[in-house]
Amino acid sequence: MEARTDVVLAAVDVRKRFGALAVLDGVNLDLRPGEAVGVVGPNGAGKTTLLSVLAGSLAPDTGSIVFKSRDVTSRGAADRCKLGIARTHQVPRPFAGMTVFENVLVGATAGGRHRGREAYDLCLEVLDRTELTQLANRRAEGLGLMQRKRLELARALSVEPAVLLLDEIGGGLTDAESAALVETVAGLRDRGIAVLWIEHIVHVLMQVVGRLVCMDAGKIIADGRPEEVVSQAAVIDAYLGGGP
Ligand SMILES: Nc1ncnc2c1ncn2[C@@H]1O[C@H](COP(=O)(O)OP(=O)(O)OP(=O)(O)O)[C@@H](O)[C@H]1O
Ligand SMILES: [Mg+2]
Repeated sequence: MEARTDVVLAAVDVRKRFGALAVLDGVNLDLRPGEAVGVVGPNGAGKTTLLSVLAGSLAPDTGSIVFKSRDVTSRGAADRCKLGIARTHQVPRPFAGMTVFENVLVGATAGGRHRGREAYDLCLEVLDRTELTQLANRRAEGLGLMQRKRLELARALSVEPAVLLLDEIGGGLTDAESAALVETVAGLRDRGIAVLWIEHIVHVLMQVVGRLVCMDAGKIIADGRPEEVVSQAAVIDAYLGGGP
């Protein structure tokens, strides 16, 4: 593949099987700084698996992950996080016994990036951006699902990532909450962060992404401008209007 200097993160011919099931079947994807890319596809299409392979919590069987022209395939999730690749989890995974503030502080100080006042100020900014300031002193285990999802986003932002990988953080939100989330993600994109956002709610995604990818059975079956992708017959069959 031709090296592209404007690509911040790329998956190159990634394959992953779970037993007999090819969950990722030759996936190629690249992300540029300041670009928001949406990922849609039916349940089990391989979306979360792709995100885990990009973030380093799951190793691909073959293929590679390239971050800023460096092959990071053999680097684990903690290393990749320090390099600037942050993710949220579809099922939130906060440090349950810690407060919201402490959860964010862990990210802000991980890898020795920030200390003392600097780390504290970064946490305050992230809490404000994710509308968690009021909940800063609440223990994570006492939060509702939507608040836990916001905390996932806050924890990801606390490492000041170059790439943000979002896995279904918008489901179940009210219209006002989705509009606020769209604004938050658009703000991150406009600061130059590359955002990959998996979400089933296509109309919410469409408000912020400039590119949409559709996955089905481990393959990318469409990748392009959102309006074009949602009108492609294969995408409609696989996902949007298909089925019985
Ligand atoms: N650790 C695992 N071991 C075995 N099979 C797995 C594992 N993780 C995922 N799978 C299977 O791989 C396939 C893809 O799963 P994945 O979670 O990536 O799908 P998804 O597109 O994120 O779906 P959803 O929209 O439901 O979140 C599914 O069939 C799933 O059951
Ligand atoms: Mg998933």
